[in-house]
Amino acid sequence: MSGNIEPGMTKPIHRRELAGAEVEVFATAADAYESAIDRLATLIRDCLDARGKAVLGLATGATPEPVYAGLVREHQARALSFAQVSTYNLDEYYPMSPLDPNSYRAYMDRHLFSQVDLTVNRAHLLDGTVPEAFANDHGAGYDRWIAAEGGLDLQLLGLGRNGHIGFNEPTDLPVEQSLALPTRLVELHPTTIADAARDFGGEANVPRQALTMGIATILAARSILILAFGDRKAPAVARSLTGPVCSEVPGSLLQTDPGKVTWMIDRAAAAELL
Ligand code: GLP
Repeated sequence: MSGNIEPGMTKPIHRRELAGAEVEVFATAADAYESAIDRLATLIRDCLDARGKAVLGLATGATPEPVYAGLVREHQARALSFAQVSTYNLDEYYPMSPLDPNSYRAYMDRHLFSQVDLTVNRAHLLDGTVPEAFANDHGAGYDRWIAAEGGLDLQLLGLGRNGHIGFNEPTDLPVEQSLALPTRLVELHPTTIADAARDFGGEANVPRQALTMGIATILAARSILILAFGDRKAPAVARSLTGPVCSEVPGSLLQTDPGKVTWMIDRAAAAELL
C-alpha cells in the first residue's frame, strides 16, 4: 500500500473544516500516507531547525505502519535524522513483556526504532511490566516526562472501531472528567479485545488491560494528526466528527480543541460523514 510513495506529491480530493478540525479526504489510503509522511518529516525538520529537537507522540496498530515505513525511507534517502527526536508511544498492553512480539515495544522496534538513528533513551513506551499497584504512578511519571520535554510537538493517532483513541475506551463519564484523564491503567473494551484477537491467536489470549496516555495528555500535544482508513472505520469517523462531544465516542473529545487536529482519511472512511 505504501510502495513507491514520494513525499509531497498528492493532494486531498476534499479539504474542509469540521468540528474545529481540518479534515482531508484522500482518494486512497496510499495518497493519505504520502501526505502524512510528508507532514511528519517536515515537522521533524522544522522542529530540529527551530530548537534542535522534536518530540513526537506515536501510535501503533495497522494504520500507522506505512507511516513508519515512509519515515524509514526518508531517513535512508534524505538523511532525516532522529538522533535528536524524542518519542512517546500512546499505549501498551498490560501486563506485557517488551520482548513479546505482540507488545507495542516490539512493534515500534520492528517498524521504526531499529531502522533509524533514534537514541535509545529518547524512545519511550509505557512499561507493561510495572507492578499493578504502581501502574497509575507509572502513568503519572510518563506525563511528567512529556511535560519536562516541553510537551509533544505532534501526536499521531489511529481510531478504534468503537471510537477509541489510544486505549481510552468508550465510557459514560461526564465530558469534563474525560478531558482531565491522565495516563493510566484501563480495562479494554470487548470490541478492542475482539479486534486484537487475530494478533494474539484468539480472544482468550488478549490482555484485558492496557496502559494508555490519557485524553488530557493527548490534547496537550501542540498538534494532532489522526488517520483512519477503510469502511470499517466510517461509523467511528462520522460519530467523532459529526456527533455530539461525548465520552461514549472518545474520538469526539478531539472536537474540544479547535485548530489543533488534522484528520487524514480515505473516501471509504469518509463515507458516513455527509
Ligand atoms: C489499537 C490501538 C490504537 C489504534 C487502534 C486502531 O487498539 N491501541 O492506538 O489506533 O487499535 O488500530 P488499527 O490501526 O489496527 O485499526
